[in-house]
This record gives sequence, C-alpha cells and structure tokens, in this order.
Amino acid sequence: LLASFGDRCLAGFKVVVSAGPTYEDIDPVRFIGNRSSGQMGFAVAAAAVAAGAEVTLVAGPVSLATPAGLHRRVDVRSAAQMHAAVLEAATHADVYIGAAAVGDYRPQEVSAQKLKKRDGGELVLHLDENPDILASLSAQTAHPFLVGFAAETHDVATYAQGKLRHKGLDMIAANQVGGGLGFEAADNALTLYWADGSVELPRVAKTELARQLIARVAERYRATRA
Ligand code: CTP
Ligand code: CA
Repeated sequence: LLASFGDRCLAGFKVVVSAGPTYEDIDPVRFIGNRSSGQMGFAVAAAAVAAGAEVTLVAGPVSLATPAGLHRRVDVRSAAQMHAAVLEAATHADVYIGAAAVGDYRPQEVSAQKLKKRDGGELVLHLDENPDILASLSAQTAHPFLVGFAAETHDVATYAQGKLRHKGLDMIAANQVGGGLGFEAADNALTLYWADGSVELPRVAKTELARQLIARVAERYRATRA
C-alpha cells in the first residue's frame, strides 16, 4: 500500500515542519530551554523534501545544516516567535509536523541587564504559559493535516493518545525519553497513533525513521482528506 505512492508520496504538497528547542530569555545571558537537538525535525524536513513536498522549516536554536532542497528556513528563538512563524507559514500548508520541543512557559519579565547573584537568597521566577501552536492551528476552521510529537518518560501511549484527542490532531508520534533514550541520539523509535489505528516504527536511524513517518503521513492524509 505504501509502495503504491512511490518515493514522491508528497509531490505537490506544502509542508511546514518545526524543529529544535525554544529558548525563553531570563536576562541577556540566561534562558530556559528544552532538551532537543533538532535532529528529528530536520530529518523529517529532509524526508518531506525527498518525498516531493515544498517544505518550510521553522527552526529553534540548533546548530544543524539546512537540508538541501528546502523551500524556506525560518530561524526563531522563543516559543512566541515560533508560534507566529508557524501560523504564518501554515496558513496555506497541507501538512504541519510539530517536531519542535516548544517551551511551555516564559518568564513574565525579561531583564535588560544581567541579574546579579544574591548570596544565600533563593531566586523566584514568575512564568506565564505560552500559547500552544498545534492547538492554535487546530482551532482554525481550515487547517493543515496536523502531526504532533509526544516525548514522554512514562505512560507514553496514554499521554500521546490524550494529546491526539485534546489538541485535535490527525496523528501523533510518541517516543519514550529519559534513561539515555531519545535525545542527542542518531537513532530513535516511534509509535504513531491516529484516531482509529496505530503502528510501531522500531528503533532505526532518525533519517530512516523520518522517511517512514512521512510515508505514513501521506497514507493517512489520503485516507482522511483526499
Ligand atoms: N506543542 C505546541 N505548542 C506548545 C507546546 C507544544 O505546538 N506551546 C506541540 C509540540 O510541538 C508537540 C506536541 O505539542 O508536537 C506535544 O508537545 P508536548 O510538550 O509533549 O505536550 P504538551 O501539550 O506541552 O504537554 P506536556 O509538556 O505537559 O507533556
Ligand atoms: Ca510541553
């Protein structure tokens, strides 16, 4: 079934991929960040290019080379910047794949000057919740096919399926993290869930895993939208 779409399974598709972490600045020298190398998201963007799609990659702070053949790369730092860049790019897209590890909270105030250490005193940071990019897209009447990622340390299937439902996603890619799994590794394993099915993609190089994910996205897109 997958082979019937061939290697160019997303030819003519506009695809937006987010990748990497976001950094939420505290002051000019400090930030709150997420553990993400961006490798998986960049591999997904490259696989979408190889599948024939016009790909826009919205990247948080990462040190990775731009995949060849990309339509556009937009570099952002904060979750707010990523939210704005993705919403702008995804308006006319067919598929959005949210592989970024978006910061859930940002400091209420960003100090213009470096905060100085106060000996012996605790530091309290007040944080505001960031908007959810996937949920914002899902709330729009006409929105792209939405793919989320869920990196979980425990109860992976339960949390991933909950996010699929609550965020109104078409598919979610779940993986176990912690204990040396997931981050900064060249390979990974994913379980894909959609409303009435799932498939396990066993541990393999992230480039190959991305290719398999893109093939499944194309398959589910055709099953539900075509
Ligand atoms: N996500 C998003 N916008 C946010 C936070 C997350 O679009 N502000 C997306 C991520 O890119 C990912 C999916 O939502 O595709 C799941 O992210 P995750 O952090 O696992 O879920 P949360 O809903 O933030 O829940 P929690 O961190 O509490 O597990
Ligand atoms: Ca989160």
